[in-house]
This record gives sequence, structure tokens and C-alpha cells, in this order.
Amino acid sequence: MSRTLGALLAIAAVVLGASIGAQQPQQPQRPPQAAAAPPAPIPAGLPEWAYAPPVPGAPPPTSALPADDSVVLKIPGSLVALTRGQVRGLLEIPDWFPNEHGPMPTIVRYGRSTEDARACGFCHLADGGGRPENAPVSGLHPAYFLQQMEDFKNGLRRSADPRKANTNNMIRFATNLRPDEARSAAEYFAQQPHPRQITVIERTEVPKTRLQGGMHMAIQGEGAGTEPIGERIVEVPDDAFRAEARDTHISYTAYVPAGSLAAGRALVEKYSCAVCHGRALEGNGPIPPIAGRSPSYTMRQLFDMKAGTRKGPWSEVMKPVVQAMSVKDLMNVSAYAASLDPGGRGAAGTR
Ligand code: HEC
Ligand code: HEC
Repeated sequence: MSRTLGALLAIAAVVLGASIGAQQPQQPQRPPQAAAAPPAPIPAGLPEWAYAPPVPGAPPPTSALPADDSVVLKIPGSLVALTRGQVRGLLEIPDWFPNEHGPMPTIVRYGRSTEDARACGFCHLADGGGRPENAPVSGLHPAYFLQQMEDFKNGLRRSADPRKANTNNMIRFATNLRPDEARSAAEYFAQQPHPRQITVIERTEVPKTRLQGGMHMAIQGEGAGTEPIGERIVEVPDDAFRAEARDTHISYTAYVPAGSLAAGRALVEKYSCAVCHGRALEGNGPIPPIAGRSPSYTMRQLFDMKAGTRKGPWSEVMKPVVQAMSVKDLMNVSAYAASLDPGGRGAAGTR
């Protein structure tokens, strides 16, 4: 029996079990608002570096972009010119490299409204590469993608950190989306290869960072310096301007603790992640890819599953894996997975 088939059977068994469970009397339907309401307290051990909650009383972040909406912006390698206002993506998402992907479905490019369903490509970007504070959606199998939409809608996938406002927004969009819109987005993003953009470096000292829109940014100028890494991953865009301009050709550096890559690799072997996620964790049919993706995102998902706030039918098979691992183990596998080539060629973005 092939490994793909084995993994699919494991999922089929779980999904079947869930659908039998679903035949029991239905819970009364909750109004859509209730799904987005911040629930539960913050679980112990929550890795704040990954969730990046807003710091109360922190001064407003300094932006690398001009304040004036009429100022025209350019980025390296693109012939497109967009105003600051267009980069805000209220009517249409910024698209610096329109020739690098096929036509975007309406919901991805324009969305319906910022309240009902904001354009998917605004947060997840035109190529689906996503950003550390949301999620990469490029190269996901449509079946997996649509299952996640169902899970968000059905209250089976929320953040362990109720302060994570963009996840609460994502839940609202998934709740409001029509099936045809969800399908067109799923099919579009499935066609986009995940960009190779993260370099993972083991370090004991890392740049001091500040928060901007849920993303860590290395401090430049006043306040710049280094600090001990501790038990965390520090994932920063290499260029603040290009990050804020939503450039899809951007690169990131993920600083990880010394020894975390070897430890992560050993855990990936111990728990046979590759049996399900593919030989080099590049994805395997409907089982999602985790190679070369944001380690902050990966960490949040593993912790959400461990804390029990991500508990869709497919997450059942992940339960024993995350239960057996400590929060530090989850960090180590997130670091290691991020260092792999997203295309499945194994070790790639390390130095
Ligand atoms: C406001 C920003 C934002 C917008 C706009 C947005 N998303 Fe998301 N999306 C998120 C965040 C944040 C997450 C991560 C949720 C979590 O914490 O689990 C996410 C996760 C996802 C995932 C799960 C990815 C995975 O690997 O499991 C899918 C699928 C998805 N979004 C689809 C969509 C679609 C379709 C749209 C357009 C209707 C959309 N998103 C619009 C913020 C956004
Ligand atoms: C038995 C099969 C199986 C094994 C073994 C397994 N996974 Fe998973 N994994 C899955 C499935 C199926 C999902 C989708 C869960 C869902 O839809 O909620 C998943 C989801 C994930 C996700 C979330 C991806 C996303 O885009 O949100 C991460 C991260 C992950 N696994 C990492 C790991 C790591 C690391 C290991 C080993 C330590 C591992 N998995 C072992 C089957 C497996």
C-alpha cells in the first residue's frame, strides 16, 4: 500500500467517524456573529512570539510607506506603479506581478466587502504566499482548502489566542462566503506554487523587533540593536517597505535557536511526519504542505491543535502527534520545516 493511500485511509476513517457523529441531533444554529466572538481565556504556554498579540499602550507603529494616499509607489523588478491608497487594497488588491499568475477570481481580487468577505488576495497576497501573521494558501489541495473553510464556519477552527483579530476576521469571511466563491478561490490558489522566500538561520543573538500589523519588523535606526533569542523564532521581512507594500517577491529571515534545526529534524523522523505530509514535507495530495512556509504560522497551527481550538475532522490524526510534543518541540519542528524547500527538494533555505 502506498504511503499516500495509507495516509488518505487514515483521514477517510476519521472523516467517516465524524460524519456518523454528525447524524446525531443537530445543535441549534448559531448566528454568524457568534462564531467570530472572542471565546475562552488564553491557554498556558501560548508562544507569544508566534501570535504577536498587540502590546497595550504601545505607540502607533512607524510605517515605511508614505502617509499620503496619492503618492505613487514602485518596487524593484515590477513595472507596475500603485498609489499608497491602492496598496491599502480596499477596492482591488495590489498586484505587482500580474503576469506571474493566471486570472484571479473576483473574490480573490476584489472580494465582496471588507465586512462580508474581504478580497482573499489582500491578506494572502496575489500568489497565495501569505504573510507570517496570516497564512500561506498557495499550493493547497482544494479538498483541504475547502475543509478549512468548513471548519472555520462550523466553529472547529479558531485561534488559541482570542486577541488574534485577523483569525476572527477570517472566520467571519468563511461564514459569509458562498460555496462557488470558496471553490473558485480554492482552485485558483491550488495552481500557485509556494514561493521560496524564507532563509532560516540559527543564532543566539537576534535583531530587536517591533510589531507592525501583527508582523515582527527589525528595528532600524533609533532603538536598533540585538538581544538574546531565548526560546522563540524571530521571523522578519528583509525589507520593511516591500513588506508593507505587499510585494510578493519579498524575502524573509527566520532566526531560530541554536540546535533547533537538528532537534526539529529528529522529531520529524520520530513522529513520521513525512508519511502523511510527503517525503520532504512538501505536501501529499490533500494533506497540507509544511516545507518552506512561515514558521510563525506553522507554530500557531500546531499550538492551536494542541490547545484544542483547531479541531476539524481532519485534525484528529494530528492530535496524538501534538499531544506527545512539548511547546519547545513544536517550535523546533516549525523551524526545521521552514528550512526545507517548498518544492520538495529537501534542505534549502539555511545558512
Ligand atoms: C484579514 C485578512 C484575511 C483575509 C482578507 C482572508 N484571510 Fe484567509 N486567513 C487569514 C488568517 C489570519 C488565517 C489563519 C487563521 C488561523 O489562525 O488559523 C487564514 C487562513 C486561511 C486558510 C487556511 C490555510 C491553511 O493552510 O490551513 C484558508 C484556506 C483561507 N484563509 C482562505 C481564505 C479565503 C478563501 C479568503 C477570501 C474570501 C480569505 N482567506 C481572506 C486572514 C485572511
Ligand atoms: C497520520 C498523518 C499525519 C501525521 C503523521 C502528521 N500529520 Fe500533520 N496533518 C495531517 C493532516 C490530515 C492535517 C490537516 C489537519 C486539518 O485539516 O485540520 C495536518 C495538518 C498539519 C499542519 C497544519 C498545516 C496548515 O496548513 O495549517 C501542520 C503544521 C502539521 N500538520 C505538521 C505536522 C508535523 C510537524 C508532523 C510530525 C511531527 C505531522 N504533521 C504529522 C496529517 C498528519
